[in-house]
Amino acid sequence: MSLIIKIFFGFLGLVVIIGLTQCKTEKSVDSGETTPTEPGVSFEKSAYGTTQEGEPVDMYSLKNAQGMQVDVITYGGIITSWTAPDKNGAYENVVLGYDSLSQYIAGNPYFGALIGRFGNRIAKGKFSIDGTEYSLATNDGPNHLHGGVKGYDKVIWTAAEPVVDSNAVSLKLSYLSKDMEEGYPGNLKIDVTYTLNADNSLDVLYEATTDKATIVNLTQHSYFNLTGDFTKTILDHEIVLNADHFLPVDATLIPTGELMDVAGTPFDFRLPKTIGKEIVAEHDQLTKGLGYDHCWVLNSQDVGDRLVASAYDPGSGRFLEIWSDEPAIQFYSGNFLDGTLPMKGGEGTYAHRTGFCLETQHYPDSPNQPDFPPVRLDPGDKYVSYTSFKFSTK
Ligand code: BGC
Repeated sequence: MSLIIKIFFGFLGLVVIIGLTQCKTEKSVDSGETTPTEPGVSFEKSAYGTTQEGEPVDMYSLKNAQGMQVDVITYGGIITSWTAPDKNGAYENVVLGYDSLSQYIAGNPYFGALIGRFGNRIAKGKFSIDGTEYSLATNDGPNHLHGGVKGYDKVIWTAAEPVVDSNAVSLKLSYLSKDMEEGYPGNLKIDVTYTLNADNSLDVLYEATTDKATIVNLTQHSYFNLTGDFTKTILDHEIVLNADHFLPVDATLIPTGELMDVAGTPFDFRLPKTIGKEIVAEHDQLTKGLGYDHCWVLNSQDVGDRLVASAYDPGSGRFLEIWSDEPAIQFYSGNFLDGTLPMKGGEGTYAHRTGFCLETQHYPDSPNQPDFPPVRLDPGDKYVSYTSFKFSTK
């Protein structure tokens, strides 16, 4: 055999061997030995209750194969329960909530709810757009809080049929907030999509459009207690906030406009620190907030989605990371929980500081503070905001 023919047959042999190897690999994948053929995510829909006005409220339970389950009701888009694994793999609910719709309606400090049209406070409930002054309800002392008397936490959202794809299940909730509802101008069409992923993360995508210039600042108000035991306080949780500055507030919790350096203050969470470590330190801002109830100005505002905060409970090993494209986060240490609200499960009440919130958002009172990032939405533009909550253990 000439050298050329030997090379030809040698090459042919190599091609056949590679081909057989590939067939083998494909076969093992096809047979499902290495890749699950089932998506591993699912949902269930159930009737949750009826409002006093006779409107039905549904619950959607989003589940993944690992064991995470997020229960969302169409009233307020509220997450009523959210299970996460501890270091032994045990899944438990880690968010505060109630057992029934009537309890949510009777009085809810925004447990698990969607917040809007403007999250957090607007001084005296007043703001102007192009010279027109708008007046909103003053439902928090002299100020407007979380969208007013009937914010998005108290309306019925319309749920689309959940979408299940290979690694995620998505629930899109929509709401049309009418022109001048709660005093805000413009018909605002809002979609909030909760997506539970196979990797134990929950994405929240907020989208909105308007037909008149308005202001928008949407967020999610889950109260976390990663111990899974709501009789325990959250003081031993280690928090990280990727922020060099926070916004000091006046006595009514409206930002003064100053950006205060966190260095050397109890507000420095750039390295892991327990909530309890300095919450009772002598600091005028802790006195005003009755603890932590402030907006942290997040670093790297121009890079879009990035890790902005985390929380870790050493006892259970539960670790929560928060990713977002928002410029700020409100860290609220459950200072107004006072043992009067009934605990989920029917036993006991939620005591002081048994839950904390990490609300990604724009700065409070932005409409009245020209140096803060803008919150104005014009017709033709689209409001888009994204936050992801990722659970793991360590
Ligand atoms: C605010 C708190 C308020 C709480 C309502 C938080 O976002 O910052 O001041 O009391 O929501 O439960």
